[in-house]
Amino acid sequence: MFTDKNILVGLSGSQELTKLIAKHLKTTPAKTLIKHFADGETMVKPEVPVRNKNVFIVQATSKPVNENIMELLIAIDAFRRASAKAINVIIPYYGYARQDRKTLGREPITSKLVADLIVKAGATRVCIVDVHAEQIQGFFEIPVDTISASYMLMGSILKGKSKKNTVVVSPDYGGVKRARRISVEYNLPMAILDKRRPKPNVAEITNVLGDVKNKDCIILDDIIDTGGTILAACNILKKKGARNVIVGASHGVFSNAASNKFQQAIKKKIIEHIYISNTIDNVYNLKIKKLEIVDISKFLAEIIQVYTLSSCGSISKIYSKTKH
Ligand code: R5P
Repeated sequence: MFTDKNILVGLSGSQELTKLIAKHLKTTPAKTLIKHFADGETMVKPEVPVRNKNVFIVQATSKPVNENIMELLIAIDAFRRASAKAINVIIPYYGYARQDRKTLGREPITSKLVADLIVKAGATRVCIVDVHAEQIQGFFEIPVDTISASYMLMGSILKGKSKKNTVVVSPDYGGVKRARRISVEYNLPMAILDKRRPKPNVAEITNVLGDVKNKDCIILDDIIDTGGTILAACNILKKKGARNVIVGASHGVFSNAASNKFQQAIKKKIIEHIYISNTIDNVYNLKIKKLEIVDISKFLAEIIQVYTLSSCGSISKIYSKTKH
């Protein structure tokens, strides 16, 4: 039960999502002042007493990424200094997740830096939706749960659709684990695309591993950013004879006018349908035909319930409920 010992807070990156989560928890987000000073500084201040409360802060660190991260850090600091008992940070989208290793000399590992800052600010637990690389869990010296919207995306994609001649496709080698999990769970065959990045934000796919001819291909990815990966994936699948291409992604970043490119691909029947979860509030502003927003707020509310102090619940149980 989400009693008054718990407080739900939605910061600027997740106002809409937090309102939806609050409805499921039968609560209202706590009033929080977010103030921007003339010099560009930010202040976050809870407007209700938080002493000894179990606080849940929801913040997607999506665009404006740096602003949203700083706002989150300041909020954690404010709650810690106001004597909150526990500070649970729910991160529907973890910005900088793709900077998780040095691929070339002198590169930073910014996702570790962000994790350090969140821990240092005073978070006691973190929950991240479809983090780009699971090893990011180890960047935090506090408990971390990484959860996935893939099952909810698949639920919407497969609604009223026959699974016959359907293939789950990973758009790159990094996504194989995710695609395999789904292919096993839904008893579907799998294909893998051989993606290369000749330079940042450019995706090239030349080979398809698996049978996609005359199949309905469901491409699952964590992020649609510039759209380069998914569009290259859709094009090669069509070239190799796929009957329909359906796209499912957890995070709809849609940078660099990506939505126009998707609109065109839908017009040309290269893409049949797109399913994106609402981890980033901005997805509600996208104007793309045949785009369906998959609401994951109930799932997040159930996870928050597990984190309440009186609960001894299990996240795996919530998963098994979501999958079927
Ligand atoms: C790559 O490893 C990720 O899983 C996504 O495929 C990628 O980040 C999407 O970016 P874009 O849409 O710019 O190709």
